[in-house]
Amino acid sequence: MSERITIFDTTLRDGEQSPGCSMNVEEKLRMARQLEALGVDVLEAGFPIASDDDFEAVRQVSQEVKRPAIAALARATSLDIERAWEALAHAARPRIHTFIATSDIHLEYKLKKTREQVLEEARRAVRLAKSFTEDVEFSAEDATRTDLDYLCQIVQAVIEEGATTVNIPDTVGYTIPSEFKRIISTLRERVPNIERCCLSVHCHNDLGLAVANSIAAVEAGARQVECTINGIGERAGNASLEELAMALRVRQDVIPFNTGIVTTQIYKTSQMLCNITGVMVQANKAIVGKNAFAHEAGIHQHGMLCNKLTYEIMTPESVGIKQSMLVLGKHSGRHALQQKFEDMGYFLNRNEIDKAYKLFTKLADRKKEIFEEDLMVILQDGIQEIPQTYSLRLVQALAGNHKPSTATVVLDKGTEILVHSETGDGPVAATYKAIDKLTNTQGQVIDYTIRSVTRGSDAVGEVFVHVDFNGRTFSGKAASTDIVDASARAYLHAVNKALHAEERRLEAQRRLEVPVAQS
Ligand code: KIV
Ligand code: ZN
Repeated sequence: MSERITIFDTTLRDGEQSPGCSMNVEEKLRMARQLEALGVDVLEAGFPIASDDDFEAVRQVSQEVKRPAIAALARATSLDIERAWEALAHAARPRIHTFIATSDIHLEYKLKKTREQVLEEARRAVRLAKSFTEDVEFSAEDATRTDLDYLCQIVQAVIEEGATTVNIPDTVGYTIPSEFKRIISTLRERVPNIERCCLSVHCHNDLGLAVANSIAAVEAGARQVECTINGIGERAGNASLEELAMALRVRQDVIPFNTGIVTTQIYKTSQMLCNITGVMVQANKAIVGKNAFAHEAGIHQHGMLCNKLTYEIMTPESVGIKQSMLVLGKHSGRHALQQKFEDMGYFLNRNEIDKAYKLFTKLADRKKEIFEEDLMVILQDGIQEIPQTYSLRLVQALAGNHKPSTATVVLDKGTEILVHSETGDGPVAATYKAIDKLTNTQGQVIDYTIRSVTRGSDAVGEVFVHVDFNGRTFSGKAASTDIVDASARAYLHAVNKALHAEERRLEAQRRLEVPVAQS
């Protein structure tokens, strides 16, 4: 049986700190539930002293998510550690993660402290954390630029104080695999009590080496790796969880370790993070990028048709992607197109499939491969008559630099008039929340673009939105001289499409359920 590597996920802490990736408490909670389903061993939920929201996120995640250990970050001060402990009060398996910088650069310029002072503070922090919980992790920030003798002393000291995990971060993504391997091996050789702790690594990706460095550390004896979904994190990010998990799984022959990651949950988790933050992964991103399983070159396609092993080292299904992304080509027929739409959850009638097929063949003449996104464009470009289940009668928003904003929305639904007011982070967010409430939907805006189509201060603005409803994306667009009005109409456009698609799906399901004798 191969040895187990502990997966410590810091998407909600280090990942969330990166530009554009901030999440509110409810979003963190949603991600935390999914990270639990993904099988992470430790879930770092936040840095409680940093803000009330961070505190609340750690508190609520601790209350709801029970399988993984929940970690809260704290600097090596009593105030931080006590606040972290308060936030972890309801955790089934609480972990306090305390840290202090150890490199001379940080000591001289940031902390303005001597090595002796930092050593003493590290000891004191672990001692205090240990008075609250058995599970204490200590991190030596900027460890890879720390004098190695001094690093050994610090590690020995915090283990003496009871640290159960000692983390060696490559805070600025500076090290390379051979060097990092040497650092980890040295710690294991020179620190007398090293066996009493789990040695962990936390690599940043400034040189694009975060995953490679983490694997080198595992080879040298590290047994916990810290990582994030989609590799999000400070600057160039952290080691990506999906890459680490799949490298360990695919290369069992040379790195014989296992993890508790349910790899089939990877894609869903990655997509959820994209939908929540609006930060998409690049197309060629390993494991979860749009092209990660797409085979473009003819010679590769030929190989794939002969035997997938020729060019596929893991299956898309193993990371939770339903089928290979190679969807349809020029020679695909009407039936294949209809089937594909149905697989995607869209049920077209004969008239619609005729129109769609015409557009499809036109596109296939220009484009070698047709992907799901192309089919979505075909579908949403006037193939289906979308009934206006809801239409906008009025939107009135109150916004300014004093948050939150308020919006009142009045919708027509047949002869009914529906009214609702909501608050939100800006007038558009408040409007969308009100529309969700009135239409009984729950949309996640994936993309929102506004552009001016005429000139002047009374210019007409055009809004485009992509909204995810239960895992399916619908686009909407609208123009108006008022951006809140345009935003509301664009969103409603997407809502009406989503409702229509759901109705079609239910209709098709009912058709399939009718017993043969009655049909
Ligand atoms: O990069 C880093 O050093 C960190 C520590 C707080 C673990 O994020
Ligand atoms: Zn970090």
